[in-house]
Amino acid sequence: MLISHMPRRTFGFGGAVFFKYSYQGTMEILSAKDIGTFQKTIWKYYREHGRDLPWRRTVDPYRILVSEFMLQQTQVERVIPKYRAFVKEFPNFAALDRAPLAGVLKAWQGLGYNRRALMLKKLAAMVITDYQGKLPTDPRLLNDLPGIGPGTAGALCAFVFGIPVPFIETNIRRAYLHHFFPKKKNVLDANVLDLVEETLDAKNPREWYYALMDYGAMLGRKEKENPNRRSRHYAKQSRFKGSDRQVRGQILRLLLARKNLSLKNILKELEQPEIRIVAILAGLEREGFIKKVRNLYGVLT
Ligand code: ADE
Repeated sequence: MLISHMPRRTFGFGGAVFFKYSYQGTMEILSAKDIGTFQKTIWKYYREHGRDLPWRRTVDPYRILVSEFMLQQTQVERVIPKYRAFVKEFPNFAALDRAPLAGVLKAWQGLGYNRRALMLKKLAAMVITDYQGKLPTDPRLLNDLPGIGPGTAGALCAFVFGIPVPFIETNIRRAYLHHFFPKKKNVLDANVLDLVEETLDAKNPREWYYALMDYGAMLGRKEKENPNRRSRHYAKQSRFKGSDRQVRGQILRLLLARKNLSLKNILKELEQPEIRIVAILAGLEREGFIKKVRNLYGVLT
């Protein structure tokens, strides 16, 4: 049994609770038989259908981190080619830290949610300056780094360091809702997390979480109704078409392709009201994507 020196504390995030700093294995909600049955189901599925993914073939913290950032909101199939190209172009924290933001955003194109690329670059800078180029192992320190929420911190603990920290992400949640809460609605992550903790294979957290994710992903493809709809924390992704997120992406793509443009030229390219474009440009500038020099907007270098 692994007893961590860290205090057992639940981490709250936007009302949802899906990460614990430590694993102690002291709770008893499930019987040994319940736990055994679930573990057997998951391991059997993994033996027969486990996915061979490029970021599962490495223990390099940087590569695993890049993959987890990409996988936060993008499907595995779309991530694979982008991941390969990205780690080739930026092979480590130092290379990413040195690279101009424009190059990083170009490599990120097609994945969406550009903020993740910005955070990843900021994180690389912090790892270089504050942690001597090494990703910290303490989940609390990980959780404080830019772009890392509780789910990513837990995933890094398992996949990089082999530390058994209970955490939830979308596929994991689906696996537990399907198996342990087949009819229940409005299930809280706090309750799911207790079961994640009890069923965690502390000897092999890395493969255990791969197996859980593969099983949950399969349920997502197979189940008529997504079990995650029964989570209290379920939020459908908002419509992309016509959204500010889409226009932000269009503006960034334009500036990446054409370097510097005036507001007038941006308006010519995008058929959108001026008031909307000005607001989105201000947001991009505030967040550190772009800067305005005299009357020209350009991506930060
Ligand atoms: N393998 C490692 N991390 C993963 C993730 N977040 N999603 C799917 N497969 C993974």
